[in-house]
Amino acid sequence: MRPTQSPFPATRLRRTRATPAIRNLVRQNTLSVDDFIWPVFVRSGEGIEEPISSMPGVFRRSVDKVVEAAREAADLGIPAICLFPYTGLEERTEDCAGAWDPNNHANRAIRAIKAAVPEIAVMTDVALDTYNINGHDGFVEDGEIVNDRTVEALVKMTLAQADAGADIIGPSDMMDGRIGAMRAALEGAGHQRVMILSYAAKYASAFYGPFRDAVGASGALTGDKKTYQMDPGNADEAMRLIERDLAEGADMIMVKPGLPYLDICRRARDTFGAPTFAYQVSGEFAMIKAAGQNGWIDEERVMLESLMAFKRAGCDGILTYFAPAAARLLQGA
Ligand code: PBG
Repeated sequence: MRPTQSPFPATRLRRTRATPAIRNLVRQNTLSVDDFIWPVFVRSGEGIEEPISSMPGVFRRSVDKVVEAAREAADLGIPAICLFPYTGLEERTEDCAGAWDPNNHANRAIRAIKAAVPEIAVMTDVALDTYNINGHDGFVEDGEIVNDRTVEALVKMTLAQADAGADIIGPSDMMDGRIGAMRAALEGAGHQRVMILSYAAKYASAFYGPFRDAVGASGALTGDKKTYQMDPGNADEAMRLIERDLAEGADMIMVKPGLPYLDICRRARDTFGAPTFAYQVSGEFAMIKAAGQNGWIDEERVMLESLMAFKRAGCDGILTYFAPAAARLLQGA
C-alpha cells in the first residue's frame, strides 16, 4: 500500500513543516466546533450555578441556567448539549421512579431548551445511577445488578426523554439488550427520528471520579461497576459490543473514557465506519485543569492537543467539558 520514499536528501520530511502556511496546507486532521457535544449538569432550584470542586469551571445549573448555557453554546456553534441530572441522596429511591418522571429536572430542562434554543441538539443520559439509592446504573437484587428488569426501566426513561423532545438518547448503563428494546419502543411510540448514541464500549474506569461527585453519586455508590462496565484489559470485547449495538439499531457509538482508549476509537472507526464518538471524561478534564492551574502545563494548548488526538484516532466528535472554551479559542474569540 505505502509507496516507497526516495532516500535522503531527495526526501526531506522537514520541507512540509517549514512555515505556518505549509503546515496548514498539509495538516491531515482538523478540529472544529462542529466536533463537540457539551455535557452539562442539571439540578433543581432556580437561578443556581453551583461550582463542582473537582471540576474547575464546571457547574451544576438549575433549569433556567441550563437554558442560558444552551443559548451560549448554540451561539458558539456547538451542535449538541448533553444533560446529566444531579440528584441529592434525599431524591434517590430503590425503585428509581424519578428516572422516568416526565417532570424530573432533566426532562424539564429538555423541554425548556427545545422551546428557547431549538437549533441545538439535546442528548440525554439513560442509566439509573442518578436516581438510585445505591448509585448503580441498574436495579440491585440480593447484591446483584439485574439486567432485564433494568432494561424495562431504561425503556420507560427513554420514552419520557423522547416525549420531552430529546434528539439523541444516550444509554450509558451497559446492560445487555437495551439498544434493541429502546429502538423498538421509540418506533412504537412514533419517535422514529429520535437517535440513539450508544455508550457501546464503556470501561469500568477510575477516570469517572469527579463526575460521580458532580451528580451526587460518590456518597451513594456501593461497590463498583465491574459486572457491567468493561475490563480495561479488553479490546476485542469492545468490537463485539459495538457490533451488537449497531445491529440492535444504534445510530452512533461511543468509546469511554477517551484518551486512555484511543486504540479502541481507531479500531471502531476502521472496523465499522459508523459515526464514532469518544467521551473525554471528568477525570481527564480534571487532570488537565489541575496541571494547568499549577502552571505545570499550558492548559489551552494541552486542551486543544488532547481534542485533536480524538480526530486523529478517527472520531467524528467528542463529548468534552472543554467544549465552550475550545470553541472560543477555535473561533479566535
Ligand atoms: C453513569 C455515567 C458516568 C459517566 C457518564 N454517565 C459515570 C459512571 O459510569 O459511573 C461518567 C462521565 C465522566 O466521568 O465525565 N451512567
